[in-house]
Amino acid sequence: MSQEIFEERIKKIEPKILENLAKKEAFSFRINHHRGDERTIQSLKDEGFEPQRVAWAEDVYVLPMEDRKRIVKSSAYTKNEIYIQNLSSIFAAYSLRIDPDDWVLDLAAAPGGKSLIFSEKAKKVSAVEPDKGRYFRMRRNFKEHGVKNIQTYNKDGRFIYKSCPGWFDKVFLDAPCSSEAHIDGEVTWWNLRRVRRFSKLQKELIVSAFESLKEGGEMIYATCTFSPEENEEVIDFLLGRYDNAEVVKVEAPFENVMEGIRRWEEKVYSDEVKKSLRILPHGAFSGFFMAKIKKHS
Ligand SMILES: C[S@@+](CC[C@H](N)C(=O)[O-])C[C@H]1O[C@@H](n2cnc3c(N)ncnc32)[C@H](O)[C@@H]1O
Repeated sequence: MSQEIFEERIKKIEPKILENLAKKEAFSFRINHHRGDERTIQSLKDEGFEPQRVAWAEDVYVLPMEDRKRIVKSSAYTKNEIYIQNLSSIFAAYSLRIDPDDWVLDLAAAPGGKSLIFSEKAKKVSAVEPDKGRYFRMRRNFKEHGVKNIQTYNKDGRFIYKSCPGWFDKVFLDAPCSSEAHIDGEVTWWNLRRVRRFSKLQKELIVSAFESLKEGGEMIYATCTFSPEENEEVIDFLLGRYDNAEVVKVEAPFENVMEGIRRWEEKVYSDEVKKSLRILPHGAFSGFFMAKIKKHS
């Protein structure tokens, strides 16, 4: 039953998604600049890999999936000079423009891949993760990757704004979600109740993210799921609650994208949500949703 409901809903969003959901042709990685540099790529080439750089970043590369097992034995990987991360996640994190003096809040941070990106550009990063096991693995991840400017907090993101209202120049909320982008065959753990439960949590988290942001600052809300209840509805909720929130369009330099959906079942969202971006699964990109939000005074 859940399988049919899931597939029906995805088809209503974009039928092409279903065709590509299970295809995993390529994977991506980026240079971890705390440990590696351009020589890292040469060392991979010397070991027989042929990494292809993406057109939109200097330090992001793609390899075919058949190299996925072999790369963990490469010298670049074992020395933590590269970080394997989905292309959609990298693109979303790179879309948050960070200045050298910025203090960035990563409100749902484990395992820490996006905080690692921010730490290379910002003065400092605060990474929040409530799950104890994930929190300690994230701390180890930061240590192994040579980071010095990330403070970690084993806390619930929903309440962070109470102790630090308006403190952060930039905020990233990579929200916990129903992870529909990772369903690659039979639906087992997915159901509509889960979608609704996550939607409620995401609304609390986005309020905390927005309240923690400085006036004039920017934040990104993201998920790895397709359901509009967890995406456009959450953005629409924020816009309804705050007059000083504006969605800023992110231009994607690739084709596998669509704009935010305005109508879903009986709901009609604000026209502004069309400026959100849905990344469709393709090559090394898995499904993703992101919206950049500016906080005016
Ligand atoms: C999509 S993952 C984040 C991935 C991470 N940003 C990265 O790129 O490595 C979402 C995270 O949110 C955490 N989470 C769940 N409930 C939360 C809450 N109430 N506040 C903050 N984080 C929460 C989950 O444990 C999970 O680690």
